[in-house]
Amino acid sequence: MKRSEERLIAAAREARKRAHAPYSRFKVGAAIVSEDGEIFSGCNVENASYGATLCAERNAVTAAVAAGHKSFTAIAIVTNSSPPAPPCGLCLQVLVEFCRELSVLLTNPKGEVVRTRLSKLLPRPFSPRSG
Ligand code: THU
Repeated sequence: MKRSEERLIAAAREARKRAHAPYSRFKVGAAIVSEDGEIFSGCNVENASYGATLCAERNAVTAAVAAGHKSFTAIAIVTNSSPPAPPCGLCLQVLVEFCRELSVLLTNPKGEVVRTRLSKLLPRPFSPRSG
């Protein structure tokens, strides 16, 4: 695995430690890297009003956008699932707003890594190119 991928996964793992998931107990960490190499991470933040819960992937990408980045090359996601879980549909939709294509690394603490791409997980999106 490339050093840059290892760094991205390490950032997602760190973020997962900060997950606020007292209701589902399902902790998620995500880290996205911008085209110019900056890493932004996020964790899921649940709420007593369950519908107000925010996913890790969307927290990572919106932090990056708020810092002025709109082009990305890869995202790493860490869950405790085996095989490692992909992002939910809402997160895929938010990612496709900014990336036509994105390398997606799905991982878990056991060290399993599934490499996939945004276009594979969301093959026919409604995107900014659709309207
Ligand atoms: N979750 C994420 O953080 N990302 C996803 O893509 C799927 C689900 C979170 C939301 C909630 O806190 C917990 O996982 C269980 O659904």
